Amino acid sequence: MIRIGVLASGRGSNLQALLDACGEGRIDGEVAVVLSDKADAYALERARQAGVAAIFLDPATYGGRNAYNMALAETLKARAIDLVCLAGYMRIVRKPLLEAYPGRMLNIHPSLLPAFPGLDAQAQALAHGVKVAGCTVHFVTEGMDEGPIVMQAAVPVLEDDTVASLSERILVEEHRIYPEAVRLFASGQLRLEGRRVLGLY
Ligand code: GAR
Repeated sequence: MIRIGVLASGRGSNLQALLDACGEGRIDGEVAVVLSDKADAYALERARQAGVAAIFLDPATYGGRNAYNMALAETLKARAIDLVCLAGYMRIVRKPLLEAYPGRMLNIHPSLLPAFPGLDAQAQALAHGVKVAGCTVHFVTEGMDEGPIVMQAAVPVLEDDTVASLSERILVEEHRIYPEAVRLFASGQLRLEGRRVLGLY
């Protein structure tokens, strides 16, 4: 059973998908702590409702980004976390945290990377006029949304799509592939070969 720490800044629907998958035994692991940089993140409330430790760490009370990332790393290490899952965590992860969890941090991003990294990925996809959009689970490395890709899912872009309707269609797939990727990690099935993640099938 691996111990999972989730970092979330907002609504936490991906956190919920992970909580559900652990609760139903689909992942051989448990969400042991949820950390947020926002005091009012609904993700913290979801954690409390699931009986999981919910911790708000205020970035304003630390002396800069590195100190904040060090505090995140220490909090996760203190709880013996094996895998860190970013789930709508809207800050760039810095070295002190990355180096504490090399190859043990995943992120979900609402685009088919390497297309449309960064903020407002679904709006970027619509503005670009792509016909297929989707989401990506990847290992976190120093470059934003750049790490080795574990899993992706595609959805069509429809002519009358808005950012909201496209985001909703992508979100359904996020909730499917994030727990699946974590399940594979937890069962030791993922293997890195350069940029490629093998062992999925
Ligand atoms: C999700 O769509 C996730 O892919 C995205 O934020 C949303 C969070 O929703 N993440 C990013 O854009 C990261 N660059 P949630 O709080 O309901 O899981």
